[in-house]
Amino acid sequence: MAKHKDREFGQELFARLEQLTGTTHLNGGEALAEPQELRKMKKFRFQLLHRWLVSHFAPCRVADIAGGKGLLAYLLQESGWQATVIDPHYQELTDKYKDIATGQRVKLAATTGVPHTGKPFTKEMAADFDLLVGMHAHGCNVEIIEAAAEYGCGFVLFPCCVIGEPFVPPPGEHWLESLAVYALRQGHTVIPFRLNFKGQNIGLYGVGRDTQKRA
Ligand SMILES: C[S@@+](CC[C@H](N)C(=O)[O-])C[C@H]1O[C@@H](n2cnc3c(N)ncnc32)[C@H](O)[C@@H]1O
Repeated sequence: MAKHKDREFGQELFARLEQLTGTTHLNGGEALAEPQELRKMKKFRFQLLHRWLVSHFAPCRVADIAGGKGLLAYLLQESGWQATVIDPHYQELTDKYKDIATGQRVKLAATTGVPHTGKPFTKEMAADFDLLVGMHAHGCNVEIIEAAAEYGCGFVLFPCCVIGEPFVPPPGEHWLESLAVYALRQGHTVIPFRLNFKGQNIGLYGVGRDTQKRA
């Protein structure tokens, strides 16, 4: 897809999600940066999501589902959250990252770590958490929505593909729309939002019973 078409599609999809979830009146996330800047920001998606999370939720017990190298969980931990990576494939915590507020490279001490559960995510795991986060969480999006409904958790999803999920969208419907509809049917209040990077930057969230939303 040409770049401007890509952008237009993102705008249209976001508008459809707002309509579907009845949230057209809400601010849909951060003001989008210039396209040139957006391209560079994807590699900082964990820092962007961390910034968004700490400005929307009070510190809580959060599961970083399919958290990979654990940078998001680490940043949340540094912000006073109780963060755990749930990912069956263990990877060493990243050893450095860029602080997007200061522009500085930050090195992590070799002794730094985040709690890690080395198993595939299952619904019952949600009993130990207030918030379930899935950034490109392969095959876990539907289960996260169901778990959040069953255990009263909030959820934040950045879905990428439908691989490994129990259903696929009907023709003409985007995966995000299917997930939003599914979450609404499960009784969630669903809010779409966007982060400042290019490509798959639309997320869906619900605050749940047990999370406190920042004013
Ligand atoms: C595309 S990576 C995403 C990693 C990271 N969140 C990111 O955005 O870069 C997908 C991750 O999903 C994990 N994964 C696959 N199946 C899973 C499951 N059932 N439960 C939890 N994690 C799973 C994989 O091990 C992998 O780390």
